[in-house]
Amino acid sequence: MREPYRLVRARPEPEFEISVDGSPVPAVPGQTVGAAMHGAGIRSWRTTRFGGRPRGLFCGIGVCFDCLVTVNGTPSLRACLTEARPGDRIDTGGAAGGPVGGR
Ligand code: FES
Repeated sequence: MREPYRLVRARPEPEFEISVDGSPVPAVPGQTVGAAMHGAGIRSWRTTRFGGRPRGLFCGIGVCFDCLVTVNGTPSLRACLTEARPGDRIDTGGAAGGPVGGR
């Protein structure tokens, strides 16, 4: 199977780690925090105020604000627009579900 980066002859840089609620999550340069979390199987990390329903990436383009996280102490950043940087500490308030099937 041909991977997209090979089709454009890109040379991806080595992956690095961020932490999500203290757990290591791999990311690659240029990837958003939300994409790294999704790639690690984390599908939700917030809940609705009423009903407590799970929320995570929804629109993926910065419109819905369902993906808010705290990055290195800065609250209310949209995970889908925030580029992951080596060593970033992502805090979801402890609501991040684990891999698929977690929440
Ligand atoms: S997923 Fe909608 S703003 Fe991030």
